[in-house]
Amino acid sequence: MSRVLEVENLKISFPGGDHTRVYPVDGVSFQLERGQTLALVGESGCGKSLTSLALLQLVPPPGRIETGSVIRLGDTDVLALQGEALRRIRGRRIGMIFQDPMTSLNPVFTVEDQIVEGILAHFKMARAKARERALQLLQEVGIPDPEQRLKAYPHQLSGGMRQRVMIAIALAAEPEILVADEPTTALDVTVQAQILEVLDRLRTSRGMAVLLITHDLGIVAGRADRVAVMYAGQIIEETSTGRLFANPSHPYTQGLFASVPRITGPLKRLNPIRGSVPAPAAWPSGCRFRPRCPKAFDKSELEPPLLPVEPDHLMRCWLAEQQGAGTRQEPGTKS
Ligand SMILES: Nc1ncnc2c1ncn2[C@@H]1O[C@H](COP(=O)(O)OP(=O)(O)O)[C@@H](O)[C@H]1O
Ligand SMILES: [Mg+2]
Repeated sequence: MSRVLEVENLKISFPGGDHTRVYPVDGVSFQLERGQTLALVGESGCGKSLTSLALLQLVPPPGRIETGSVIRLGDTDVLALQGEALRRIRGRRIGMIFQDPMTSLNPVFTVEDQIVEGILAHFKMARAKARERALQLLQEVGIPDPEQRLKAYPHQLSGGMRQRVMIAIALAAEPEILVADEPTTALDVTVQAQILEVLDRLRTSRGMAVLLITHDLGIVAGRADRVAVMYAGQIIEETSTGRLFANPSHPYTQGLFASVPRITGPLKRLNPIRGSVPAPAAWPSGCRFRPRCPKAFDKSELEPPLLPVEPDHLMRCWLAEQQGAGTRQEPGTKS
């Protein structure tokens, strides 16, 4: 496999008052291989969207990416790019789709206008040729009757169709990487599954890498090769999807699993993790999950590094010292 994206020690800060800064993204590292899907999972407020915006230097001011952060796109040092060079990678090498297509689509232009513009922004070709290409793209993302849909305005389409149009626009530039930030959150379950299906097919047919951002572990199974779980600005568990589902190890990840509704088995009350993600200014010292963690112990006062639980499976929790040493605990038992 060839590596298409490497993020190393990404730190994003915002002014925190009194001349201090807060770090909603605090030392995030991950890699993406060609044709691979990495899911970035965590509750709202963990820093997922800022992480994805940083990939294109789109962190809104007064936020900034701190010195020492590294984003490599193939051989390109993204954080060294400016102006035209930066614009060239936006869309063309990394495409983005967001949660709410209504805010990203322009309400006064037809689907055709928007896709054709997307194509012409990146490739020199005649308008008629670009229109043909737009039709193909609509077919590729599973839009029925694409000739008719080309003439439609965004408000004339259902939420699922709008999201497909967004994906078609992102694909128009033929990016190597597609970043999908909560692409299905606003959609009902059936349409969610269809959109994820489209992403999966594109990854296979185009060899595209996908960064799938979601707060919902339930949509990750069967869709992602690897999972990075984020909490309070840091990756707290990272492994293959198979290993994560077989052996979710960080108490936060276990909490996320406990709050995913099950289709099979007896209907149980869900156990969401108590409390919510605090604002970055209020992240505790030591283990950031400590105040919400049912398994916190005295060592949690110290900040844990990413530690191996098993081969190719890391977590940021001192319990890894026990699990990694072979005394694996069953999820749910107290230490
Ligand atoms: N423009 C901004 N100004 C100040 N703080 C921000 C801004 N955008 C995000 N943040 C802070 O960064 C944290 C992470 O945000 P975000 O990346 O959107 O999280 P997620 O996508 O995981 O929900 C939030 O708690 C928020 O307080
Ligand atoms: Mg977000």
